[in-house]
Amino acid sequence: MKARKDFLPFSRPDIGEGEIEKVTACLRSGWITTGPLCAAFEEGFSRLTGAKGALSLSSATAGMHLLLRALEIGEGDEVITPSLTFASTVNMIALAGAAPVFADVHYGTLNMDPGSMEERITARTKAVVPVHFAGAPADMARILEIAGRHGLAVIEDAAHAVGTTFGGTHAGGFGRPAVFSFHPIKNITTGEGGMITLSDPELERKLRLLRFHGIERDAWKRYGKGGNPEYDIASPGFKYNMTDLHAAIGLAQLERVDALNGRRKSLAERYLDGLSDVAGIDLPGVPPYPHGHPWHLFVVKVTGMPRDRFFQRLSEFNVGYGLHFPAAHRLRYVRERYGETPGGLLKETERAAERIVSLPLFPGMSFDDVDYVCDAIREILKNG
Ligand SMILES: Cc1ncc(COP(=O)(O)O)c(C=O)c1O
Repeated sequence: MKARKDFLPFSRPDIGEGEIEKVTACLRSGWITTGPLCAAFEEGFSRLTGAKGALSLSSATAGMHLLLRALEIGEGDEVITPSLTFASTVNMIALAGAAPVFADVHYGTLNMDPGSMEERITARTKAVVPVHFAGAPADMARILEIAGRHGLAVIEDAAHAVGTTFGGTHAGGFGRPAVFSFHPIKNITTGEGGMITLSDPELERKLRLLRFHGIERDAWKRYGKGGNPEYDIASPGFKYNMTDLHAAIGLAQLERVDALNGRRKSLAERYLDGLSDVAGIDLPGVPPYPHGHPWHLFVVKVTGMPRDRFFQRLSEFNVGYGLHFPAAHRLRYVRERYGETPGGLLKETERAAERIVSLPLFPGMSFDDVDYVCDAIREILKNG
């Protein structure tokens, strides 16, 4: 099989004329930082998720930082999360002064195993952070039930979960805080950006202050005609606001979210079909409960050859790839600061971590692109 001439990237944002028009209109409007477009984006996002409130942010990482702070999680506390997650979550837990504690995942879906989560609860545990891995929902019913029994906060890491539903409820719509990401590879993007959704007005008030210096009123209202430019600060805050330029992109993406996710789904189905008879690869598992899966990532596990060699061969075929994620419990500072997690506790994580590979998946891909990747994988696993 001959390698294609052009490189097929692992991901590419889908930016259309709508996004360009909205950004241009914002640039011409005279107001480009946090303002009415952020407010409209927040409103649209609340509608999508069913959450009562939404706060637009500079990133999901910022959202996790703010939530841990607002929930007063810090020194001496433990937060349970899967090890197969982006380092940002673990970093924020560590920077808050708390200790990350890792629960195992199901090998198929790579979602947190609620049984393992429960085993890791101690008197110090304050919160659990399930990840809706690749867009497949974590088992929210069991996680909420266990967390409720132990009096723990639940923060959904919904970075992959625009379009994710569990039993008819959208991620972020469970009455608990959730954090979404709009990084360029995500299902909808704002360039960089994030959103907290939540349904607790008191927590929302705290977060709004923490998001912007601790200042009560929005700048776009303070600087408007007749606005009062004075401010007072009761408690210091960060600067994690989104800008209207970013929200302009987000609003245009939100208008197309069903089409963008629908396209991802049909590409994922094409992969599932195209790779179903290939030996040496495990396909993504599907959650056993009613759900909606927007296929943020298509993660396979390579069992038929060493992964380094598989990466190298994909490169030779001009195909991009990703790794989501290097297991967090093996990060150097995590091992040095918190000690080794006994291997037996993370058996499925360890089994998956060596083998996972994210294949190209983005709405601008064609079925021919998917077929090409499937043929390349078939050839690689057959001939090495
Ligand atoms: C699971 C997970 N959590 C959190 C994040 C952080 O998102 P952001 O880059 O918007 O801070 C990401 C982003 O890649 C992620 O994949």
